[in-house]
Amino acid sequence: MPALEYHLKHIDKHSGARLGEIVTPHGTFPTPMFMPVGTQATVKTLAPEELKTMGAGVILANTYHLWLRPGEDIVEEAGGLHKFMNWDRGLLTDSGGFQVFSLAKNRDITEEGVTFRNHLNGAKMFLSPEKAIGIENALGPDIMMSLDECPPFFESYDYVKASVARTSRWAERGLKAHQHPDRQALFGIVQGAGFRDLRAQSAKDLVSLDFPGYSIGGLSVGESKQEMNHVLDFTVPMLPANKPRYLMGVGSPDALIDGVLRGIDMFDCVLPTRIARKGTVMTSYGRLVVKNAQYARDFTPLDDNCDCYTCRNYSRAYIRHLLKANESFGERLTSYHNVYFLLHLMKQVREAIAEDALNDFRQDFFARYGYFKP
Ligand code: GUN
Ligand code: ZN
Repeated sequence: MPALEYHLKHIDKHSGARLGEIVTPHGTFPTPMFMPVGTQATVKTLAPEELKTMGAGVILANTYHLWLRPGEDIVEEAGGLHKFMNWDRGLLTDSGGFQVFSLAKNRDITEEGVTFRNHLNGAKMFLSPEKAIGIENALGPDIMMSLDECPPFFESYDYVKASVARTSRWAERGLKAHQHPDRQALFGIVQGAGFRDLRAQSAKDLVSLDFPGYSIGGLSVGESKQEMNHVLDFTVPMLPANKPRYLMGVGSPDALIDGVLRGIDMFDCVLPTRIARKGTVMTSYGRLVVKNAQYARDFTPLDDNCDCYTCRNYSRAYIRHLLKANESFGERLTSYHNVYFLLHLMKQVREAIAEDALNDFRQDFFARYGYFKP
């Protein structure tokens, strides 16, 4: 059996939205799906059991961070990342490319790979496509990413053209270095910024290598929502219908719905957990800064339409108090709610696709979202 199977079940009659499922060696999850991010082999503040209770079937970890600390050798010695972190469902790792470009200093990209100083102690390091795959093979996730370069959205055409060609060569080198295609599915990452012909070239190069799935990278990096949707409009049809499509680094509710409408199956983002720790929650009425003074005496739940553990048991006033007092339980409660909110949103999205009604769902959702009146 291959490491991954994608079963396409239904396409919305009025959009590109697809209902499907992905089968991995660690269980099956429905798509479209949002994948919570566990950069350091933990979805910050949440236990694996809690993520399972919420319905998370797949989570993400970062090759870059785990390579630097504790080192992939230690994770391998523990029996792999699943065992190390006590997570027995789907697990996906990013390749490290994006993190090197966003976190590390003194980067130097050559054909061979990328040299940089890491963000922990400044030590000089080198990451090549083969090295990234070697680390991902040692970590042992179900789905892994090729090493890519994510150029800025408004980089020049000539730069992006050369970068896309190199990312394609890196993808091919990674595929050759991959030791466990039987139990780990390697995805190629389509780049090309906002240039239609470069996205087409990137997709063509990667599709010819026959990856079991395709990611779309280089988006949500400063361009507008309209620009991102425009890129998706022309890029998604360049990808095969019988393979999963993963839009990297996207996790705001509106971008999730708009991505699904265009045929995206998987998403990940640090957004829900990152804003939660700073005291902002996603609700069906829009974002709410629960840390604000106006909630000091508000004894209602974060979202009266949410039935998560946090909303069933705690008030805005109590959560605000915990956050103001720097009590870690406050961050846990907001993180739980935000991750639940996106997982539940995607469940509603899947139900809407099954009824050929995702456009209607979108309209209803936005009639309320963003018009928050405290
Ligand atoms: N995460 C968000 N965007 C990207 C991207 O373009 N490449 C990689 N590897 N990871 C990402
Ligand atoms: Zn809730």
